[in-house]
Amino acid sequence: MNVLLLGSGGREHALAWKIAASPLLTKLYASPGNPGIGSVAELVKLDMSDHSAVAAFCQEKKIDLVVVGPEGPLVAGIADDLRAWGIRVFGPSKAAARLEGSKGFTKDLCAKFNIPTAAYGRFGDLASAKAYVEKTGAPIVIKADGLAAGKGVTIAMTLEEALAALEACFEGAFGTAGAEVVVEEYLTGEEASFFCLCDGATALPFGTAQDHKRVGDGDTGPNTGGMGAYSPAPVMTAEMTERTMREIIEPTMRGMANLGAPFAGILFAGLMITDQGPKLIEYNTRFGDPECQVLMMRLKDDLLILLNAAVDGQLAHMSARWSDEAALTVVMAARGYPGTPEKGSVIRGLDEAAGEGAEIFHAGTAINGGALVANGGRVLNVTATGATVGEAQRRAYAAIDHIDWPQGFFRHDIGWRAVEREKAGA
Ligand SMILES: Nc1ncnc2c1ncn2[C@@H]1O[C@H](COP(=O)(O)OP(=O)(O)OP(=O)(O)O)[C@@H](O)[C@H]1O
Ligand SMILES: [Mg+2]
Repeated sequence: MNVLLLGSGGREHALAWKIAASPLLTKLYASPGNPGIGSVAELVKLDMSDHSAVAAFCQEKKIDLVVVGPEGPLVAGIADDLRAWGIRVFGPSKAAARLEGSKGFTKDLCAKFNIPTAAYGRFGDLASAKAYVEKTGAPIVIKADGLAAGKGVTIAMTLEEALAALEACFEGAFGTAGAEVVVEEYLTGEEASFFCLCDGATALPFGTAQDHKRVGDGDTGPNTGGMGAYSPAPVMTAEMTERTMREIIEPTMRGMANLGAPFAGILFAGLMITDQGPKLIEYNTRFGDPECQVLMMRLKDDLLILLNAAVDGQLAHMSARWSDEAALTVVMAARGYPGTPEKGSVIRGLDEAAGEGAEIFHAGTAINGGALVANGGRVLNVTATGATVGEAQRRAYAAIDHIDWPQGFFRHDIGWRAVEREKAGA
């Protein structure tokens, strides 16, 4: 098969790495990709917002499957447009991607199909949102309805913060994504990411993970796209997984089909495990980054076979096997991230680091004058497996020791919660 992978992050490098391992693969193209992806794929420059141009490329190169990494093109309807050209695509339709593209849509779906989630209100103007917040009180959560690159959520511990967040939203801090706002009850518990591979009718559990959003050790400092992750999430016991499937995922699949928008692709449920059980915080309609990196390390089956089955509606007959080992990834970021990262510093020592048994997925890298340089905020994902999260953690950090990049930084405590749990259990 000829495959085109869209995207350029560590998530896409992990997908490319796994797809390239499939005997089904003839040729892998990636756009725009990155130097790491370039080691297993031919990189091409396509304008992802120009769906006809992507389709024309697919016809020319006889692409049998397009795999869409990020949410932007999915919410913009790239899957529908390519399918209209007769091209097979792994990723949800525009209507199904509303699960990520509109938080209000997802909350209404939860209400309609009785899916456990935080109580909420949905507002299109400041006055009515304010009135709701004043009546409910803090702590409370304010969310821009649309895609805001992970920046559209405010956890307001006071009424003042909540009102300020509402004002910012309606003043256009998130552009059209904030023209509508969801106000939510504040939930407490432990968070986990739960993934399903879906074909419109069947949802196949596809691994669990936990990530670290804050930039600094001890979960301090500003939020980021994610500074590290590990899989599996210990909190997702067999019982919790079964409840999540029955109470959240299956009603969502039925609900979406019922609304005429069956969901096919990766359904990524952000969960809060509360005293009453799992509650849905949000859906994303693609793999997480960096969660995908740890999932791909643990997936024993051929990813391409599974993606094909999802596209062809054949998942009812499939299963996915996972390594019993844990996987952990540490994000190395460029100084300045999550503000303005410094670009252009030279990175050395990746071969030595990989010698420690780690997989190093590239995120924001580039080649400049023959040297590998930083070219983004999150730059490398140093990923390792082990019998325990603790062992995977030791291996990932041992690999990092070989990386010579003074302008980079990383958290030193990725996986701490799981490692403490392991120590307490030992
Ligand atoms: N109702 C809630 N109660 C407590 N915390 C919440 C709630 N909603 C969101 N959060 C916190 O805020 C984070 C971001 O919220 P959410 O996942 O809805 O936003 P997002 O911007 O779509 O995130 P992502 O970039 O991960 O897709 C959550 O991971 C969680 O830590
Ligand atoms: Mg989201």
